Amino acid sequence: MKESYRPRYHVSVPFGWANDPNGTIWFRGKAHLFYQHYPHKPEWGPMHWNHVTTTDFLHWEQRPVALYPDRPYELVCGCCSGSAAEKDGRLYLLYTAAQPMMQRQCIAVSEDGDRFEKYEGNPILTAEMLSPEIYEEDFRDPRIFRHGDSWYLLAGVRYLDGGRRVERAPTRQRETTNPRQPAPEHRKEGWGNLCLLKSDDLFRWSYVGHLLYPQPGFNEAFYRLDGVYECPDYFVTGDGTEVLLSSPQNLPGEGRLYQNIHSVLFMLGRLDFATGRFDVTTVGEVDSGFDFYAAQTLRMPDGRIVMIAWKEMWDRSFPTRAEEWAGTYTLPRELTVEDGRLVQKPVREIEACRGNAVRVGETVVTDGETELPGVEGNVIELRFTLEPGAASRAGVKLLSGGGCETLLYYDRDAGLLVFDRSRSGEEITGRDRDLNVRVLELGRRERVELDLFLDVSSLEAFIDGGRHTMTGNVYPDPAKAKGVRFFAEGGRAVIRDLEKFDILV
Ligand code: FRU
Repeated sequence: MKESYRPRYHVSVPFGWANDPNGTIWFRGKAHLFYQHYPHKPEWGPMHWNHVTTTDFLHWEQRPVALYPDRPYELVCGCCSGSAAEKDGRLYLLYTAAQPMMQRQCIAVSEDGDRFEKYEGNPILTAEMLSPEIYEEDFRDPRIFRHGDSWYLLAGVRYLDGGRRVERAPTRQRETTNPRQPAPEHRKEGWGNLCLLKSDDLFRWSYVGHLLYPQPGFNEAFYRLDGVYECPDYFVTGDGTEVLLSSPQNLPGEGRLYQNIHSVLFMLGRLDFATGRFDVTTVGEVDSGFDFYAAQTLRMPDGRIVMIAWKEMWDRSFPTRAEEWAGTYTLPRELTVEDGRLVQKPVREIEACRGNAVRVGETVVTDGETELPGVEGNVIELRFTLEPGAASRAGVKLLSGGGCETLLYYDRDAGLLVFDRSRSGEEITGRDRDLNVRVLELGRRERVELDLFLDVSSLEAFIDGGRHTMTGNVYPDPAKAKGVRFFAEGGRAVIRDLEKFDILV
């Protein structure tokens, strides 16, 4: 039998389907990760919240499923995405009870962080309680946070620019029950936006306003989004920088950016808590690879902000379905902001799992390929500095063997770092214009710092100390594809200060 594609040190769903991380929070000595889950098949279905906890971000403990779709107001689509908050020693979950054409917010509470009870007054929040400009079909993914003495909540919405109230569409039969995929003939009103609400008790909320509006330097496409800003998040870094994260559906490409059908953005700026307006100073793409969506953060007791994202993408095939599961998550990543860029570093706890170190000071590759003794494996971390020198292309072939290889290289003339999975293994199909190549614009460079994490069927690349990342899944034969080969074309390149570790979990 073929070996499994299942990653060893990344969270993955044990069986069935999983998408967005939800309710990420540090509560009673543990990091809690809930996630969107359909246990019966490896495809989207009425959503449950699965629940895992950890103290070190590497060893995760399965807890009882936290939320089941068992109430009339959520039977069709289930308990969709949301977030968690601790209040008076209890753990609260706020989630979207999604029905076709209607999305409302509900709350559940737990005394012990394990068993959750839904509030009998659910749903606590409907689009009708908001501005008439919010469209009730798309109002989801509440993210709670504390500011001053109040609770605030961000949610993804469609906003009707101009205040026109929508004729409520009658609920109709749909081909799909997935709230993000309306029936094809159904026309959506309004543009994607985010809204801010305020509360003193987590149960009664008042509308503050919407966040995004036309402003200088803010691409029109961001304001007129034909989709929803899904799974928002907001946090303030240690030096007071405000960061808004969200996952806009159908964001159009802009140059080399936003090449996936759906993207994850960070916006730096200032949130006005009186009006809800977010003044944007910087917008950027969080990850430049293939498989990264719905990122959420938690704040650790030591102040670190740790982010985790769904390491998959909508509208594509999932080769792991043949193994009866689909859904993996990124490494937890520590976030900071430096010079207007979101900087991501693998959570430092992972260093405790490094084993069998191999170190190589300098390797010269001239117009060809080189293997280094002991530098191989498909559950490894590989760090090095790439000096492309005169080579037109220089980099590394990962997970190579059995006729497969995954390429990560610098293209000198184009000034690009290229992640090429066209010969990686089992084919991935989907709606993307290009399913196999993603590029990161670095410009002319003498060196590129790479810290790569391989885990059977995935590559996470941290570039230049985490100022950029590229994440993607690949599906070679796990028994054969363990090779690492450095290569240079058209000249001489140097691989410097290489370190390879097995990740032992
Ligand atoms: C994002 C999303 C959310 C929704 C959830 C449903 O991936 O579409 O907006 O709540 O998935 O599972």
